[in-house]
Amino acid sequence: YTRMEKFDVVIIGSGPGGYVAAIRSGQLGLKTALIEKCKELGGTCLNVGCIPSKALLTSSDHFMFVKKEAVKHGIVIDGARADLAKMQERKNKVTVVEGLGTITAPGKVSVKSSNGETQEIETKNIVIATGSAAVELPFAKFDGTTIVSSTEALEFTEAPKKLVVIGAGAIGLELGSVWNRLGSEVTMLEFLPRIALGFDLELSNLLQRLLTGQGMTFHLEAKVSAVNVNNGRATVTATKDGQELKFDADKVLVSVGRRPFSDGFGADKMGIALDEKKRIKVDEHFRTNVEGIYAIGDVIAGPMLAHKAEDEGIACVEIIAGKAGHVNYEAIAGIIYTNPELAGVGLTEDQAKEQGIEVRIGKFPFRANSRAISSDDVEGMVKFVADAKTDRILGGHILHHAASELIAEAVSVIEFGGSSEDIGRTTHSHPTLSEAVREAALNVEKRALHIINR
Ligand code: FAD
Ligand code: NAI
Repeated sequence: YTRMEKFDVVIIGSGPGGYVAAIRSGQLGLKTALIEKCKELGGTCLNVGCIPSKALLTSSDHFMFVKKEAVKHGIVIDGARADLAKMQERKNKVTVVEGLGTITAPGKVSVKSSNGETQEIETKNIVIATGSAAVELPFAKFDGTTIVSSTEALEFTEAPKKLVVIGAGAIGLELGSVWNRLGSEVTMLEFLPRIALGFDLELSNLLQRLLTGQGMTFHLEAKVSAVNVNNGRATVTATKDGQELKFDADKVLVSVGRRPFSDGFGADKMGIALDEKKRIKVDEHFRTNVEGIYAIGDVIAGPMLAHKAEDEGIACVEIIAGKAGHVNYEAIAGIIYTNPELAGVGLTEDQAKEQGIEVRIGKFPFRANSRAISSDDVEGMVKFVADAKTDRILGGHILHHAASELIAEAVSVIEFGGSSEDIGRTTHSHPTLSEAVREAALNVEKRALHIINR
């Protein structure tokens, strides 16, 4: 572009929030610029998040299938081994564009590229999509080799002999699984009495039991107080039931959450208001308190998920274009891609109770589903939370190897305001795993067909 050009929208950050907003903005005929400080587009999700983690999860899952499951299908593979270099190579790829964006005034963004050149861009609207970064523990600062974040844990060139993971949330469970499958001795330390906070408790407990069966060790209600590194090895100290526990480790993955990236690009100088968690405050139209400046994705409140960032990006630029952009936060699924996968959308049983909503629950185990039995993939269940008065589906929860795909039905039903009866009346193809979804819905009224309800 030339210096004289003026944009309608300038987006800072090219993660799933920013790049999708840019695509939609272009579709709407708005003159759009996308600024990214890193060499690659795609943000956390594409470079150090969703995609590389799912690539390693899939590769290591295939490895486990070959090692442990194939034989059950009458497939004998001797001498299987993991070629980690090859696994890592498959996972990395992308394109290049760069420049650090700083907001210097409303409608003005200065972009500094790595060759030192600075350009000033003028625009009618600015969308902040700067994302998030890993939270550091004050007593266990990231050193990039022994105490690491997910970014480095996606790049290990060999499986650490002993891996201690602090925090049994999405990142800890996924990357703990990867390295457990590839040969590490994995110890998970979590300070809550449960794993996977935010997901259905019963399914989370079941997942924990299954992961324990796969070789991972869990210490819940374990408060980590120190991590000492000596000659490249770490000793992690935690307190549990008043007792001090010590764990030695070759690597320590700290996965205790992510913080919004709301500083370092002029937000403070512009007086952009933040909330108590340093997230950029926005109204229901993604507007900050400064005219013409919007924010979306991990840098604002809500679940830190790629699809949430994407849909906010779309809604935000639609609003800028004068359309009625909207995100339905009740229909955003969260998924942890372990094996089995844990997926949930809407309210859990506990959340509904906390809100004083009377609910009915329908459950169905995959053990009673013919497709799951025929493919020997029977771990897990489907669970629906329906409003006791209206039968409207308030939440859907699935634990299964294919939960990430199956949950889409629950998301659609919630989006359309459907009931358990709607799902129960819908014909589901046979034999498919999706029949378990229907059976769980039927079981809201205790009338599943392929299980005896007592
Ligand atoms: P980001 O993706 O963080 O992108 C922000 C971009 O802005 C970055 O590229 C950054 O370099 C750039 N930027 C920041 N400041 C500036 C500046 N001043 N100038 C120019 N550029 C700037 N979510 C899921 O839904 N599913 C998953 O399976 C999943 N897996 C994950 C696995 C891991 C290991 C991690 C860490 C996260 C995962 N997430 C997953 C979360 C997901 O990655 C984030 O929710 C998502 O990337 C947020 O998108 P965003 O656009 O808000 O920000
Ligand atoms: P998280 O918020 O999912 O989990 C952090 C866990 O660490 C919690 O269980 C918390 O209780 C625990 N914890 C916090 N402090 C602790 C301490 N001092 N000692 C022991 N335990 C402690 O955060 P995580 O896993 O770091 O992921 C960050 C974000 O990235 C998530 O919010 C998630 O939305 C996103 N993400 C999403 C994925 C997906 O959708 N599949 C995959 C990976 C990340």
